[in-house]
Amino acid sequence: MSADLDPPRSASSSLYIGLMSGTSLDGVDGVLASLPADGSAMATLATAYVPFPDDLRAALMALQASGENELQREAMAANQLVVYYAQCVAELLEKSAIPAAYIRAVGVHGQTIRHRPELGYTRQTNNPSLLAELCGIDVIADFRSRDVAAGGQGAPLVPAFHQAVFGNEEQARVAVNIGGISNISILPAGTQEATSGFDTGPGNVLMDAWIARHQGRSYDADGAWGASGKPDAALLAALRNEAYFALPPPKSTGRDLFHIEWLDAQLAAPAHVHLSPADVQATLTAFTAGTIADAILRHAPQTGAVYVCGGGAYNAYLLRLLEETLSAGAGRAIPVLSTETLGIAPNHVEALAFAWLAQRFCLRLPGNLPAVTGARGLRVLGGLYPAQ
Ligand SMILES: Nc1ncnc2c1ncn2[C@@H]1O[C@H](COP(=O)(O)OP(=O)(O)O)[C@@H](O)[C@H]1O
Ligand SMILES: [Mg+2]
Repeated sequence: MSADLDPPRSASSSLYIGLMSGTSLDGVDGVLASLPADGSAMATLATAYVPFPDDLRAALMALQASGENELQREAMAANQLVVYYAQCVAELLEKSAIPAAYIRAVGVHGQTIRHRPELGYTRQTNNPSLLAELCGIDVIADFRSRDVAAGGQGAPLVPAFHQAVFGNEEQARVAVNIGGISNISILPAGTQEATSGFDTGPGNVLMDAWIARHQGRSYDADGAWGASGKPDAALLAALRNEAYFALPPPKSTGRDLFHIEWLDAQLAAPAHVHLSPADVQATLTAFTAGTIADAILRHAPQTGAVYVCGGGAYNAYLLRLLEETLSAGAGRAIPVLSTETLGIAPNHVEALAFAWLAQRFCLRLPGNLPAVTGARGLRVLGGLYPAQ
């Protein structure tokens, strides 16, 4: 144990854990990070990823829509989910050789099963009390509800963090998180103009569902299957006709809208039934790329570079289409790069954001950006489940 660590459970500890499991339902990403309160150099000390077993993934998928006995099913799925969260925490502590008592808090997103801010609620299923019990660390959870209570979308929450780590004095940038759903953070040069951001629409969610149906695989590694097909202009136009894309920000979306039945309804049209599964996958990839590019061209035309995080950053075909569409639309080259080039691996960014949001809670600092979520004002986000 290094001598300069804070004493156990010190209110001055700067060690935080962030846990993120998103709409892809693939598993939980975790980071253990040192986040000095003065905002000086943050450091990632350990990372871990725990995939979900098929039965948990199926249970969470089934909870995306209402069904019989869903209260009990939700509670049981939350308890099972937390076992994997706790395993992720244990791996982080083991890898870093830091005891639980030195961690100030765990920030945990939970698993979104409904997102209906227009009805005044968003539900990230979770059992933070059980997580506190299993890992003996203060847990901060339910980050989105307070923003919704203040009239906001409760999403996206990561733009403030993206600004803190990817913002640049001289260059206007956009950070894109391509998880199940995709969201952008618009980061103007310097700090004069406000950061903004919104959900652009589907990220990997439709591509994942399509390859699962046709090849039994959970995702299209590197986009290789999509790249073997050819995007179909007519299907692409039909998909892009969805009303969500014309809505002005602030806006957020999820599996409530973009699910396989939504895709099936589009594919049922006579104009599209002849398409091969690979051509549909290519079109879905172009759809994700095109809706992201369109959002950037419309709302951040000055951007000098685009940095991509989330699992979609590992889809080479998607990134190529994004760069091509963006550059063609702008009439100039706009580089599309992985956040790895700025020092944070794409699959660690969102988990680190929840470690950062936990710190914001502990310091009683706001975590939302009203310009992004549409909330009435800045709010401290999350609820505390103490270790003891
Ligand atoms: N090597 C890869 N090639 C293509 N896609 C990938 C790769 N690795 C991960 N992905 C995609 O990223 C998704 C997971 O991304 P993630 O950022 O964890 O999303 P979420 O936050 O929704 O869980 C996977 O479901 C898959 O679609
Ligand atoms: Mg994930």
